[in-house]
This record gives sequence, C-alpha cells and structure tokens, in this order.
Amino acid sequence: MFGLKLAESGRVPDVVIRAAIRGLLRRRLNEVRSGDCEADEAANHAFREQLRSSPIALVPELANQQHYEVAPEFFERVLGWRMKYSCGLWSEGVRDIDAAEEAMLALVCSRAQLTDGMSVLDLGCGWGSLSLWIAERYPKCRVLAVSNSKPQREFILARCAARGIENVEVVTSDINQFDPEQRFDRVISIEMFEHIRNYEWLLARIAKWLEPNGKLFVHHFSHREQAYPYEAEGEDDWMARHFFTGGIMPSDDMLLHFQRDLVVDRQWVVDGTHYQRTAEAWLARQDAQRGAILEILADVYVAMLGGHQTSLTGLEQSWGGTEAEGAEGVAGAVVGLIPPGAALPRDRRPLLARATPEELEAHALLLARLGDACIWREAAEA
Ligand SMILES: C[S@@+](CC[C@H](N)C(=O)[O-])C[C@H]1O[C@@H](n2cnc3c(N)ncnc32)[C@H](O)[C@@H]1O
Repeated sequence: MFGLKLAESGRVPDVVIRAAIRGLLRRRLNEVRSGDCEADEAANHAFREQLRSSPIALVPELANQQHYEVAPEFFERVLGWRMKYSCGLWSEGVRDIDAAEEAMLALVCSRAQLTDGMSVLDLGCGWGSLSLWIAERYPKCRVLAVSNSKPQREFILARCAARGIENVEVVTSDINQFDPEQRFDRVISIEMFEHIRNYEWLLARIAKWLEPNGKLFVHHFSHREQAYPYEAEGEDDWMARHFFTGGIMPSDDMLLHFQRDLVVDRQWVVDGTHYQRTAEAWLARQDAQRGAILEILADVYVAMLGGHQTSLTGLEQSWGGTEAEGAEGVAGAVVGLIPPGAALPRDRRPLLARATPEELEAHALLLARLGDACIWREAAEA
C-alpha cells in the first residue's frame, strides 16, 4: 500500500513503476495458470459457468466513475484525435496514434463487412471514434451510438454539430436496460465486452436486434489462454480496485463458447504489441501534458469528495485524522498558491501562471494527494 501511495505521488520513476507492474502481472499469471492444461481449462469452464448466471454487466456506475464520466478534456489530451479508447493498429507506415486509430477503424469496418447504406449500432461507443468514422466514410449509413456515459453523448453530439454530421444518433443507456426497438444490418462493439459478464444473455438480445442477414462484429482484448475477473485480492490490487472494477479479461476463445443465439463466422487475432504501442503513445501524451491533466483530474476528485470539501481547510481536515503528517506538509506548501480557507477556484490557471516552480510542484503534489484522499474515503466508507 505504501508503494502505491508513493507511486501515486508522481515521484517514482517510470522504470520502477514498470518493474512493479511486471511483478504484478507475473503474480496474476501465476495465479490463473497452474501449468496443468486440464486444471486450467477446468478453471476457464468454471468461470464461463459463473458468467452465465451473472447480470449482463456488473457495477456500471464504477466503470463510469473510473473512466467514462471523467471529463472528455482528459481523454482529448491523452487519446488520438479520433478519441479511440481502444487498441490502435500500428501497421507498416503508421507512425503516430492518430494514424493508428484510423488504421484500426478501417480494419474493423472491413472485417465487419460494412457497406454504405447499412444501419449500424455502435455498442459501447466511447467518444464516437467508430460512429463518426462510419458517418464520414459511409455517408449513407445510419448509426445509433450507445453508451452509459452522458459526457460521451454530449461530446459526440458536439463533434457531429461541428462537422455537419447528420447520420449519427446517440443514446445514453446502461446495457443492462438498453433496448433499441429497431433492427440493424451491423452491430459493432469495440472493447465493451470486457465489461460484460453474461455473454449468453447479451448475445441473445443482440440476435433480436439484427436484420435477418445482419452480423455482429466484436473486438475485445484477451489473454491467449485464460479468462479471469478483475476482483480485488488485496489493498495493492490497483487495477481491480481503481481502474477496472467489475471487468474481466476474456480468453481468446471466449465467444466460441457462447454460440447459442449467434454463430461465429470468423475470428481474427491482433498481436498484443499493437496495444503496447497504443498505451505507450497515450502515456507519452499524458506525460507531455502533466500540469494541464492534473488540473482536469483535480476537478474530478474535488467533485468526488463532495462540494462542501472544496476549500483547502476542508481538504486539510479531510486528511487530518488519517494522514495528518503528509497532509499538513502539502497543505502548508500550497498556502502560497491559495489562501488557507479560501474556496478552491474552479479555474486555477491564473493562479498557476503566477506560481513559483516550488509552488507548482507543491500544487501537483496536492492534486496527487487529492486522489489519495478519495481512495481513503472509499475505504473508510466500505
Ligand atoms: C473501452 S471503451 C471503448 C469505447 C469505444 N468503443 C472506442 O473504441 O473508443 C468501453 C465503452 O463501453 C461503454 N460501456 C461500458 N460499460 C457499459 C454499460 N454497462 N452499458 C453501456 N455502455 C457501457 C463505455 O461507456 C465506453 O463507451
């Protein structure tokens, strides 16, 4: 836990964090792979059976809190221009994330056998990368984009308006309740199935949303052999606790086991190095814009803490009983930026423009500590 807090303070070099992540991955793989192929397949089978009796998606509100309702400005700074929050394709000649996003969007549409004039459901649409790509490249298609995030809908509608796109509709709905009441030539879902538990139930519903010759195309990340849930197994299980609560790692063959209502026509694999390069590109963009991103995230964390705690004094008190020492140090250091007791201004840019390098560093630290305060609150309330 101490290691995590240190990492979250932003003062641990990437090389150390990467080594720790590799250690956690090794531990995870050792847990899910026994080295005995019969036992491993039995574990996969048991997990699939467990999925059959689950709701379609677990804790969607946590997925929203952890990702999908974080301000779009954060994702605009980190993702590529098309805002694809999923793997890019780094084929020959592709040099940056913008091109990698487009290469993968083109591949998806080709593998989904999309043609102009089709009706399309973009299931788990994110910030509209696929919907807008289709709307532009296949102007006679009609696209219904759906996700459980209101900010995603607003973002897509704003992009459509700015670019004069009229063939995209956007609906905000949790997949557990979603019912489009219409049929589609194509349902395309990019990296949403990792949030899904009950594949059988969802695939049965999708089968009813398809036109008679309609097809579903699913892109999900996978482990080549083992499927497993992200369940917090300890305080240091950062992924399961703070990033992907309720999510699963599907195995490569997962959908082959759920063919009651839809039958798999064809399966492809994409080498994992494409995701590695995508994630590296996101990290490089994030590192290059650290200050601005911490500003955006501060608003998220302040909102999570509750409006009444948006003063420095409030923050100091909220930490007081738990991490008094660290909190006092941080609160003291930022006094030069914002007077004690003053409301934390929504737009802190004018203050930051006047700040000394030490004050800026302290401010960045405060923002990192804000994250800690939220984590502590969650734990205290649990
Ligand atoms: C990893 S993002 C992928 C977004 C997009 N397909 C892309 O490639 O950029 C997963 C998407 O699934 C949506 N999603 C996750 N759980 C959901 C749920 N329970 N109901 C509806 N949408 C959900 C998220 O809001 C998000 O839009």
